[in-house]
Amino acid sequence: METKLLEITTENMEQAARMIADGKLVAFPTETVYGLGADAMNGEAVGKVYAAKGRPSDNPMIVHIADKKDLARLTPVVTEVMKALMEAFWPGPLTMIVNKLPGIPDATTGGLDTVGIRMPSDETARALIRQSGCPIAAPSANISGRPSPTTAQHVVTDLAGKIDAILMGDECQVGIESTVVDVTGENPMILRPGIITRGELENAVVKIGKKVELDPALLVNRPRDVSEPDFKPKAPGMKYKHYAPKAEMLIISGEIAKVKTEIDRLKSENEAKGKKVGVILFEKDQSREAAHDFFARLREFDEQKADLILAGALDPNDGVGFAVMNRMLKSAGYHIINV
Ligand code: TXA
Ligand code: MG
Repeated sequence: METKLLEITTENMEQAARMIADGKLVAFPTETVYGLGADAMNGEAVGKVYAAKGRPSDNPMIVHIADKKDLARLTPVVTEVMKALMEAFWPGPLTMIVNKLPGIPDATTGGLDTVGIRMPSDETARALIRQSGCPIAAPSANISGRPSPTTAQHVVTDLAGKIDAILMGDECQVGIESTVVDVTGENPMILRPGIITRGELENAVVKIGKKVELDPALLVNRPRDVSEPDFKPKAPGMKYKHYAPKAEMLIISGEIAKVKTEIDRLKSENEAKGKKVGVILFEKDQSREAAHDFFARLREFDEQKADLILAGALDPNDGVGFAVMNRMLKSAGYHIINV
């Protein structure tokens, strides 16, 4: 299939929107990562997204909307919690898991009776949704299991030839995917951490007497057999192998000076054996930079054919650090040492 690479012009936006409305697949920028979009209400179109990404079909998609009022067309009740979170974080990198209305195809929600909804802040994304006239189902626009795409070029690398078009926008500002929060229970529960932190969520709901919980599966920091009884992440996507670079990857955790020394030592030791070594190391107050750069760095190391990636752990008690560590641990296959 020929994939059209579309610069962001008025005409191209109209063309891309028509393609979505016609059941085709168009990748587009958002503030978090690039998404691979299809008409969320067209089960056949959504089915093609799974095929293009090589994605397991029980992994539901996030549905993107352009206006807050569109939420009421996808879910039966808009609760106080939903209102508070929307008010505080939309448009922006927050996905809410809500009860779904029956019109949403099973393909979009992986057969669940809930649906993930997000209103992106990226103007191109919102214009595409508005112009296509339908909510857009979009997972990250990468081959399943690969690092998420934060530039248009990343999408070209993974999906050229497999989808109808790519909107060639700017690089993504955030760099990691949205915070996913289940709002169907008594208190909101984080299923996937992101740049919007637990503390920020808490501030938004404390005034209506709610607390923010964390899916206990997020605190597990070793690979788990999904058949283990206590390992049931509530976001189906969190159980799959993810974000994996081609190189072997090791995380070094501990006090920053010691981490630096150990990384230098391991680097020299491995280079002496003829290995190509990549290093990812951020200072304590650089968790946002880490989020912005992390996936792009993994892809760079792939291109440079690195054999080994050494990464300094971020502080998991810093909200954004926790979100980056969630990705880093998965990329490294939970390969971590303490110094
Ligand atoms: O920032 C983002 O969220 C990006 C951009 C494109 O918006 N999208 C993204 O989609 O990261 P994806 O498909 O790569 O990740 C969606 C995550 C998966 O872990 C999925 O299992 C979870 O959200 N999810 C979606 N719908 C769900 C539902 N109804 N219940 C529980 N988890 C759900
Ligand atoms: Mg993804």
